[in-house]
Amino acid sequence: MPFGLVPGGIFRCAAVAGGRGPRDVSKPKTILDIQKMKAAGEKIAVLTAYDYPFARLMDQAGIDIILVGDSVGTVVSGYDTTLPVTMEEMLYHTRAVARGTGQALVVADMPFLSYQVDPREARLNAGRLVKEGGAQAVKLEGGTNVAATIRAIVEMDVPVMGHIGLTPQSVHRMGGYRVQGREEAQARQLLADARAVEAAGAFAVVLEGIPAALAREITAAVAIPTIGIGAGVGCDGQVLVIHDILGLCEKYSPKFVKRFADVSGTIRRGIDDYIREVKAGDFPGPEHSF
Ligand code: KIV
Repeated sequence: MPFGLVPGGIFRCAAVAGGRGPRDVSKPKTILDIQKMKAAGEKIAVLTAYDYPFARLMDQAGIDIILVGDSVGTVVSGYDTTLPVTMEEMLYHTRAVARGTGQALVVADMPFLSYQVDPREARLNAGRLVKEGGAQAVKLEGGTNVAATIRAIVEMDVPVMGHIGLTPQSVHRMGGYRVQGREEAQARQLLADARAVEAAGAFAVVLEGIPAALAREITAAVAIPTIGIGAGVGCDGQVLVIHDILGLCEKYSPKFVKRFADVSGTIRRGIDDYIREVKAGDFPGPEHSF
């Protein structure tokens, strides 16, 4: 083994961290805990993660649910939409997140074409995200149109989170990323979608890009927790993309995003300093040399 590459050695923070996140690993959250939070009026905090270090940090901070979103396609892989994301990519990212998570519930997104064509294939792919990815639940987009698929997955004991409203995998049908449910007929359809998702057995549902009043109405109409993104404060919980809240994604910032930190600035300063010190011959110093 080359010098420095010893197990638990100097190159891997994972070795120091010790695998699964250290926070209350004896009691990882379940879908029942999440559902009890709605009943107790306790807000549910959800963030996306796509890798081990981010999962570990948010798990230690006490996040309730980590969503391995197919937004990985846009914020990590640089695609314009989530449509190109594959099952293999989702499995890779889900495994990394699961390894960094101790107490949060890990939900993995089902990517485009992994559940739309055939309920049997949907069951297989949902099962893979649990068996090979280490997720405790999966999420898929759609309402009444995917109710039978949700039921098929739930019947094999894989918990499902629904996702209605602005569903990014339907970007071409919607004609862009537009707020849904502004008109009465569309609002009634979204209420029907939420009820269909609940009746099919979903344990929670994401409400994305819909008017706050409609989100509040849906939240009151269903017994399962609603997790809002661009849906106002009347939902049972909130989800945002981690790159958005940390200011890591500068390409585009929707109105519903709040930046809680400017990590891009910190990274840029660190990289600038590194380049300057390497060019000047100031790094590595004697303290970094053997
Ligand atoms: O892919 C994703 O990150 C999502 C959330 C933003 C809801 O679906």
